[in-house]
Amino acid sequence: MISSILLAAALAATGVVGAPSPADVVAQLKAAPAQADRVKILDKDSDFVFNFWNNTAVKGAGGETISATVSNFPVLVNNGLSMTLGMLGPCGMNTPHTHPRATEMLYLVNGSITTGMIPENGERFIFNTVEAGSAQVFLQGSIHYQQNEGCDPILFVAALNSEDPGVLSATQRYFGLPPDVVGAALGGLGVEYVAGLESMIPDNIALGRQECLDRCKIKRENQPTKQRQSRDSNNALPGMTSTTWPSSMTRRYQPPSATPTASKYSKTGNVAVAISDDDHTVAANGGISNSVLITLAVVVGVLAVGYVVIAVVWLVRRRRNDAKKANRFYVRPEMTGRSLVPTDEPKYDTPQ
Ligand SMILES: *[C@@H]1O[C@H](CO)[C@@H](O)[C@H](O)[C@H]1NC(C)=O
Ligand SMILES: *[C@@H]1O[C@H](CO)[C@@H](O)[C@H](O)[C@H]1NC(C)=O
Repeated sequence: MISSILLAAALAATGVVGAPSPADVVAQLKAAPAQADRVKILDKDSDFVFNFWNNTAVKGAGGETISATVSNFPVLVNNGLSMTLGMLGPCGMNTPHTHPRATEMLYLVNGSITTGMIPENGERFIFNTVEAGSAQVFLQGSIHYQQNEGCDPILFVAALNSEDPGVLSATQRYFGLPPDVVGAALGGLGVEYVAGLESMIPDNIALGRQECLDRCKIKRENQPTKQRQSRDSNNALPGMTSTTWPSSMTRRYQPPSATPTASKYSKTGNVAVAISDDDHTVAANGGISNSVLITLAVVVGVLAVGYVVIAVVWLVRRRRNDAKKANRFYVRPEMTGRSLVPTDEPKYDTPQ
C-alpha cells in the first residue's frame, strides 16, 4: 500500500504520470478566459523557455531549421508570435516558400546571405545581400528564399507575427499537384517529365546556387527527397498510385541537358521506359503526332534498304568484271614458259 503510493508519487515527480501533451495544454490555454488563467496553467517557470537544440529540426543536405510555434511551445497561445532558427550550411538555401499567416523579420547572426522575395502578382522582385547584424522583412504570403553565399555555415533568427505562421514550400507543393495539371501550367510539359523533375526536388534546407557550390567545391549529390507531396488517386504520378516515385526510376531520370543525343521531339526523358500508362502522355512529343513520325521513319527505312541493294548489285557486278579480267591473264601452271602471255604482263592472283 505504502509502496504503491510512493511509486505513484515518484512517477508524478518525474512527470511520467499525468503529463499533459502540448496539444492538451494548448486546448486548456485556449479555453482559459484570461491571461491570469493561462499563467496558472503554465505553472512551471520553464514553460516560458524553449530550447531550440532539443527540438525537431527540418533537415536537408544544406542545413536545418527549428521552429518554436504553438504546436510545440504552448505558451505562445494568444500571443501572436513565433520564432525560427535557421542554420544554413555552406551554400545552403532555404528554398522558396511562403508563410500563409505571418510576416517574417529575419536577423542574420553571422556570415552573409542573399535573399529574394516576390510579394504578389504585379510587384517587383526584391533582392538583397544581407550581412551579419542586419534583418530583413519578408511580407506575409510572399514567395521568398535565403541563400548562404559563404563556404561556412551561418545562423539566422526569424521572428514571425503569428503563433501559427505555417509554411508552404513553393517547389515541393507545386509539383505535388496532378502531374498533367502541372505540365499544362508549364506550357505542355509531358507528365513523365513532370514526374522526373518532381523526383529530384530536394528537401529543405537544400544545396543552393551552382556558382556557390563551384566556388566552395561542393558537389550536389545525395540530397534527400522526402518532403515531396504525398500522392493518392487524385494527384497520382503517371501509371501509379503509390505515394513515392521509386528510387529505381529516380535514378533513371536524366535532365534534358544530360541527354544531348535524345531526339529533339522526345520530351519523355529516360523515365518513359518505366511508365506503362500512355493515357497521360499528352503532348509528350512536342506536338508532332506519332503517326507522322512513324511514316517518316518508314520512308527513311525504305530509302536506306534501297541504297543498300543498289550498292550490293554494283559490287557484285564489279567483282564479276574483275574476275573476267583476271581470267584473261590466268596461266595454268603446266602452260608457263610457253609464251602464250607477254612476259611483262602482271600476274594476277586468282582463287585456286
Ligand atoms: C535537452 O534534452 C535533454 C534530454 O531530453 C535534457 O537532458 C536536457 O536538459 C535538455 N536541454 C535543455 C537545455 O533543455
Ligand atoms: C556562424 O556561427 C555558427 C555557430 O556558432 C558557426 O558554426 C559558424 O561557423 C559561423 N559562421 C560564420 C560565417 O562565422
